[in-house]
Amino acid sequence: MPGQAVGSAVPLGAGTGAELEVRGVRKSFPTDQGSIEVLAGVDLLARPGEFVTVVGPSGCGKSTLLGILAGIEPPSAGEVLLGGEKVTGRAGRFAYMPQSDVLFDWRRVLDNATLGLEVRGMSRRDARAKVAPLIQTFGLAGFERAYPFQLSGGMRQRVALLRTVAQGQRVLLLDEPLGALDALTRREMQIWLQSVWERFRWTVVLVTHDIREAVYLSDTVYVMSPRPASIRRRVAVELPRPRTPELATSPRAAELEAELLATLGA
Ligand SMILES: Nc1ncnc2c1ncn2[C@@H]1O[C@H](COP(=O)(O)OP(=O)(O)OP(=O)(O)O)[C@@H](O)[C@H]1O
Ligand SMILES: [Mg+2]
Repeated sequence: MPGQAVGSAVPLGAGTGAELEVRGVRKSFPTDQGSIEVLAGVDLLARPGEFVTVVGPSGCGKSTLLGILAGIEPPSAGEVLLGGEKVTGRAGRFAYMPQSDVLFDWRRVLDNATLGLEVRGMSRRDARAKVAPLIQTFGLAGFERAYPFQLSGGMRQRVALLRTVAQGQRVLLLDEPLGALDALTRREMQIWLQSVWERFRWTVVLVTHDIREAVYLSDTVYVMSPRPASIRRRVAVELPRPRTPELATSPRAAELEAELLATLGA
């Protein structure tokens, strides 16, 4: 069975050598009408080099969860561990790409890509030297001096991803990085993302609405419940790697998609 029940007596991270571990994360926000509970206890783990995807209904708290991992928001309860070390509420330990990561219109491709490093205090010269070798891999060769308006949607997303990856962290937190793209470009970008991940083997936590994308890219998919959210199910995607585009339409992939959809709709 690909699915695995969550909530067994054994702690999720026990003896697994997890790189990232989320333990019992809860989050409530104060509002005019009182407190709103968004996360009701989320447990999640990612092993080194694992591609983990989080899916869940709109508004269930996926971005809130990623913001907590990134140290942008403190949780109301629970812990975030990186390589066994508590990093709860600490920013800068992960490479984080927010849901609406925008490029700056007045900065060229190269200078948008170096922004994350410059914000951390690196000189533009050093940041450019660090980013330059990645330009080719990210399909941006020849466009280093272009402005964002001169790029296609897919290229803009690759610049934003490059900016995230350039920060040199082992763990990437990607919040719907392909969400704004049309279906065809999105498909191309999924294939591209899969191939660069094969090369760099980052540990990834990706948030998406797209079940097919989740199955195609992931080793493990976590399905969140509606708000107040917890993890409804953890599904291992045991499809061979590297993932070929044909694999995405295989019967096994279709089975996994159906299983995820059923869990989401349950
Ligand atoms: N700073 C905040 N103050 C109050 N409520 C908030 C705050 N941030 C998020 N929320 C609420 O938390 C809930 C979850 O929001 P979140 O953005 O995490 O959902 P999501 O799963 O990422 O949704 P989507 O799939 O649409 O991106 C929403 O009801 C939202 O209104
Ligand atoms: Mg979101």
